[in-house]
Amino acid sequence: MSFLNCDEAEALARACLPAQTYDYFAGGANDEITVGANRRAFDDLAIRYRVLVDVSRRELGMTLFGRRVTAPIVLAPMAFQRLAHPDGELATARAAAAAGIPMTVSTFATLSLEDIRAAGDGPLWFQLYVHKDRGITRDLIARAAAAGYEALVLTVDVPEIGRRERDERNSFRLSPDLRVANFLPRMSDALQAEAPGSGLADFVQGMRDSSLTWKDLEGLRAHSGLPLVIKGVVRADDARRAVDHGASGIVVSNHGGRQLDTAIPSLRALPEVAEAVGHRTLLLMDGGIRRGTDIVKALALGAHAVMVGRPVLWGLAADGEAGVRRVLELLHTELDLAMGLCGTPRLADITRDLIG
Ligand SMILES: Cc1cc2nc3c(=O)[nH]c(=O)nc-3n(C[C@H](O)[C@H](O)[C@H](O)COP(=O)(O)O)c2cc1C
Repeated sequence: MSFLNCDEAEALARACLPAQTYDYFAGGANDEITVGANRRAFDDLAIRYRVLVDVSRRELGMTLFGRRVTAPIVLAPMAFQRLAHPDGELATARAAAAAGIPMTVSTFATLSLEDIRAAGDGPLWFQLYVHKDRGITRDLIARAAAAGYEALVLTVDVPEIGRRERDERNSFRLSPDLRVANFLPRMSDALQAEAPGSGLADFVQGMRDSSLTWKDLEGLRAHSGLPLVIKGVVRADDARRAVDHGASGIVVSNHGGRQLDTAIPSLRALPEVAEAVGHRTLLLMDGGIRRGTDIVKALALGAHAVMVGRPVLWGLAADGEAGVRRVLELLHTELDLAMGLCGTPRLADITRDLIG
């Protein structure tokens, strides 16, 4: 199955997925204002490219937590990937390893973190949702560290789950053969029980810990011994607090518009966070990355790397591992071309003045 860009991958995925699954992947909170705004923020920026620069040799690679990666791209954590394709997270992990970029595995993966680790030797990060039973949380962290995950990504923008009206309308459920494989089987029951409304909302309601605060961060970090990345920050003061509490990285993110609708688009939040902490922590952003030029814009505004979300699911749905490989290859090729056309042969050449 062939596609020329991420939007075409989405069209293919939409054609082959059940409507409930497509809606779960594509949708956001309430009126989905932030879903659209994340994208528009990129489209609204123009690039002031440089000319007559020797761009005959370009370097897209960089180092993330001691690992050489081929591009400033990380796969965002995304739940329930076996909804997209029977191979689910295994296919994604293999494609990421082949592309030489890290994958972030969700707490809500449909395969266990150990099984995904066994898929290959590419860099894997583990995304953590803190369970109200802190014993379960500690156990997850210990398992991720023991399995060889290289960073712990704590998602902080889900004190409550955003209201996803598409999921509510569709009574979103996991089929009986799918589970949140990192938890005990019975813990997925709310995702499967016949009931009106969103099974995901019921499931998260039953496990979430809305009492989590900054003072919990150091404990989580110390427990894993892994670099701690805080995902879901959109303000300079929160970013400073995260770094002061020992975070090694920040993801400027609004969860792809799936949590607080009308939240600030990630790209617009990026400059203030970059100014506050960009010199002392690894700074990532996500939300709306669909093109190589989007990556250039994010880097110009201070990100060191980006996370890519939905396009990975579109590739996975369209063609399994090969589809995810294709998405990653497209983004790599597009970034390479954009750097050539911008007169920025090295990542360090992508500076603030490129944005008009
Ligand atoms: C279907 C889906 C599932 C997601 N699951 C998670 C998750 O389990 N944990 C998490 O931190 N973020 C999750 N996210 C948010 C992504 O990590 C990321 O922030 C967002 O998708 C980036 O925006 P983009 O899809 O526009 O690239 C999910 C996003 C989608 C679309």
